[in-house]
Amino acid sequence: MKDFLAISDYSPKQIQEMLDLAVELKAEWKSGGNKPILKNKVLAMIFQKPSLRTRVSFDMAMRHLGGDALYLSPAEIGLGKRESIADVARVMEGYVDAIMARVFEHEHVIELAKWAQIPVINGLSDYNHPCQAMADALTIQEKFGNLKGLNIAFIGDGNNVAVSLMHICTKLGANFTIASPVGYELPENPVKLAFEFAKESGSIIKLLNNPHEAVKNAQVIYTDTWTSMGQEEEEKIRQKVFPPYQVNSKLVSEADPNVIVMHCLPAHRGQEITDEVADGFHSALFPQAHNRLHAQKAILVRLLAKG
Ligand code: CP
Ligand code: NVA
Repeated sequence: MKDFLAISDYSPKQIQEMLDLAVELKAEWKSGGNKPILKNKVLAMIFQKPSLRTRVSFDMAMRHLGGDALYLSPAEIGLGKRESIADVARVMEGYVDAIMARVFEHEHVIELAKWAQIPVINGLSDYNHPCQAMADALTIQEKFGNLKGLNIAFIGDGNNVAVSLMHICTKLGANFTIASPVGYELPENPVKLAFEFAKESGSIIKLLNNPHEAVKNAQVIYTDTWTSMGQEEEEKIRQKVFPPYQVNSKLVSEADPNVIVMHCLPAHRGQEITDEVADGFHSALFPQAHNRLHAQKAILVRLLAKG
């Protein structure tokens, strides 16, 4: 596999191997530092949208592994605007060793990967967020040992983060439940894929509208913003629709007593999650954010350190 564009492209075995590598690289880093296995390698990071975690964690992952990263802001490149994606890909492959791209349209990261002979990593698109899902699985694994048989409940918008979470859960045998408002459910195609993965792994998938039903017996409650980047013009209406889907202390109290609460961040405190939950006993928000570093090191090593 040249690229890392979607969880659905990888087998359960490949995903688990990357998670195992992330565990090893995290332990190595904690005990003094990583070996420079990506020495002289440079990752170009193309951003069409803002970022804190993706930008800083990829940059630091490259540095820890002896390589370097180059940040290209939304004001630069003009992917598909100033220049065609095919031309950008073929120019970049002569300068750098891999590209990480955060794009609006998922097709654009696919197009970049198609034309570039170097690895391309999807750093979030309107469709999915696979690097986030790897960090999420690592975080859940650290808490519960592995994902098999766990009940994971996503509360809110059937968005890019939900798609990748659903796919990693159903690849690795976790039960995935989502509760979204009517009209904001997950798209049909990724759900179909998830049911295929579940046939292999034994995961149970539930697509609901009631958040209270969704969190029953959940070991993980996950939420994300009600309005993703690129949907700003829908914000007003979404603010009216989503309040019943807030992850607050009452909702958390309806889950398994050992539940952890996750959020990919940035959080809109007082909207999809309350301060009390985000900073409370069950919160895994910051270990989860920190695990982006370790999960992405494994992705980078898997794509760049061959031979
Ligand atoms: N979770 C996440 O991808 O955060 P950023 O948008 O800050 O990169
Ligand atoms: N769903 C959010 C995730 C941000 C990391 C968005 O796309 O804006």
